[in-house]
Amino acid sequence: MPEQGLPRDQVMQRLIALKQGDQDWRGGRVFSLVYSAGDDVHELLSDAVALYSAENGLNVLAFPSIGTMQHDIVRNTASLLGADDARAGGEVEGYVTSGGTESLLQAVKTARDVARDRGIARPSVVAGESAHAAFTKAADYFDVDLIRVPVGTDYRVSADTLAEACTDDTIMVVGSAPSYPHGVIDPIADIAALAATRGVLCHVDACMGGFLLPFLTELGRLDVPFDFRLPGVTSMSADLHKYGYASKGVSVILYRTRDLARKQLFVTTDWLGGFYASTAMAGTRPAGPVAAAWAALMHIGHQGYLELTRTAHDAARELRAGIDAVDGLQVRGDPPATVMAFGARDPARLDIFAVGERLADQGWYLDRQNRPDSLHATVHAGSAAAVPMLVADLAQAVREVGSSRTERRDTTYGQSV
Ligand SMILES: Cc1ncc(COP(=O)(O)O)c(C=O)c1O
Repeated sequence: MPEQGLPRDQVMQRLIALKQGDQDWRGGRVFSLVYSAGDDVHELLSDAVALYSAENGLNVLAFPSIGTMQHDIVRNTASLLGADDARAGGEVEGYVTSGGTESLLQAVKTARDVARDRGIARPSVVAGESAHAAFTKAADYFDVDLIRVPVGTDYRVSADTLAEACTDDTIMVVGSAPSYPHGVIDPIADIAALAATRGVLCHVDACMGGFLLPFLTELGRLDVPFDFRLPGVTSMSADLHKYGYASKGVSVILYRTRDLARKQLFVTTDWLGGFYASTAMAGTRPAGPVAAAWAALMHIGHQGYLELTRTAHDAARELRAGIDAVDGLQVRGDPPATVMAFGARDPARLDIFAVGERLADQGWYLDRQNRPDSLHATVHAGSAAAVPMLVADLAQAVREVGSSRTERRDTTYGQSV
């Protein structure tokens, strides 16, 4: 920091200058990291974050409005995921978390605590190799064995494969709706039935799909069960900061029963500082993202989400058709929603990472992943208008790359250091 503080405008100028090297997401060329519902929504989110920039989400007694907003966010999310249906059992409860990763961390910690109640010293969670990396993080944090099993040629994990890896120490099985790497939806009904038969928990990771699949279903574009209407599903995660089009920092974790939800509560009464009860990993928490998520729900509304979903899905179909039309390219698996990975039909003849480098030079930001080498696109409403250009640039990049290869074989998803 400078010895003497800089004037406001200078600080802002420096911030703006610092940002020059960042990806420019506004034109719809950045996938996976940003979800945009347009300038109008973006301005509202910024105003909401600013309105709550000082308040502390740790204490809803001091700031009851944060509690009200969290309650509304959780109830709306639960409704979308079948909580009001009689088959859900009438007890679905949950909490706002800081993001998909925290929701998954909480789901695994809760499962570990259930395992402790059952006398399982070293519990295991069984998931496909496509389940999000945050499950590996959770297993690492909470001393749980994560058993990863292979996905099929359709990139989905089958209930049979999960069943083969279950042991007496297994406490939870996992399905993704959809998975991040290939955007495919695991057979959740089968996985939930497996969990119910074995008497174990079943987490459905709908971080990506929680604000997408319900609307696709309502639009008549999807017909697969994946939520609390399936009796074996015991917890679900859904991110507002993805297809909820909210600011970063808000996800929801839901549990089928009150008892399960209570497991997430941390309470201590014997601290000199006083009574401390918290449902989150963090203590002091930003309230701005909560306000922005609440504002997104209120402003976009049910019809707005249907329209955003229609726009994103139409664009995803267009991208898919465009990829399939390029000789040598293929979409991996059969992703039914808006998330997909694509690569070379024959990796010996076309290097998709070389294609990715060409696209990156033109300002496109697409994650690289492997097994098999692929590029990844999370199509959202804000990227829809850019899709025809992406298809054209992609076709040109494939032509230009020909049979040349790049030395760079690294993959990217996230790196915060
Ligand atoms: C299916 C799925 N689960 C979990 C996560 C983790 O979410 P976050 O990045 O908000 O921590 C993601 C992120 O893309 C995801 O796609």
